[in-house]
Amino acid sequence: MAEAAATTAPAAAIEVSDLVTHYGDREILHGIDMEVRQGEIMVIMGGSGSGKTTLLRHLLGLEKATSGSIKLLGRELTSMNEVELYEVSRKLGVAFQGGALFSSMSVGENVMLPLVEHTRLDRETMEIMMRMKLEIVKLAGFEDLMPAELSGGMIKRAAFARAVIMDPAVLFADEPSAGLDPVVSRSLDELIRDLRDALGMTIVVVTHELESAFNIADRITMLDRGNILTIGTTEELKQSDNDRVQHLLNRCFEEEVLDADAYLARLTGDSPRD
Ligand SMILES: Nc1ncnc2c1ncn2[C@@H]1O[C@H](COP(=O)(O)OP(=O)(O)OP(=O)(O)O)[C@@H](O)[C@H]1O
Ligand SMILES: [Mg+2]
Repeated sequence: MAEAAATTAPAAAIEVSDLVTHYGDREILHGIDMEVRQGEIMVIMGGSGSGKTTLLRHLLGLEKATSGSIKLLGRELTSMNEVELYEVSRKLGVAFQGGALFSSMSVGENVMLPLVEHTRLDRETMEIMMRMKLEIVKLAGFEDLMPAELSGGMIKRAAFARAVIMDPAVLFADEPSAGLDPVVSRSLDELIRDLRDALGMTIVVVTHELESAFNIADRITMLDRGNILTIGTTEELKQSDNDRVQHLLNRCFEEEVLDADAYLARLTGDSPRD
């Protein structure tokens, strides 16, 4: 039936439908529909508190959804038991905010850690795999240094090497360039594209930095207070005639949160002026 379409449209790596989530009594995501195609770089954007990290944690199976469906690599995540979730998690790579390495281990040991924990490969094979990944993130030869001897950008690179050491089908990154200067941040953008090109991975990146999003995204999902505002390519977003999309694109996302009137109103308990 849909054979022609199937050959042109890459299969979905992740399919989310009508996802509703809570923290306690508070509903955070109000019915999210989105899909991430195989081999694409999907950027999730939105203001602080819009639910980006929450969405990511659900896609990783770290939180239990209230209702709705998440299909990861063709399998329903929301009904999996612990064992099934563990099996799936082996196919996922994660570079979280902060990108922490263990300070007591060398860079190489940090990068190899998932292999030590999840495989029975011999030491020599692990070291070869570690060196290959360090080369991809442009840290060849740094395996014997300790994390304290690396710059902030290098630590992020090493964290990416660790995140991809098991050749994950999907790589997730939450605010990879937070706290980095613009030049280092741009080189991380390049690294994310390199990883996709070199390893053919599907990559989901959360960021609130517009420039970075435009640099790396095949498509962007814009979250707004727990709802999907829009999903599209950079060009599609720029040309969107939706006022809210333009508002978010034209203002810095942080400004949104630090809006003085709303902030004062919150402090004084008054309703914000419109
Ligand atoms: N563990 C938690 N327990 C309770 N509420 C939470 C928890 N984590 C997040 N929230 C709330 O859920 C909402 C969405 O938070 P989330 O961390 O997903 O936002 P975000 O878009 O990632 O923001 P940021 O850009 O600041 O990282 C916020 O209102 C937040 O206060
Ligand atoms: Mg977050």
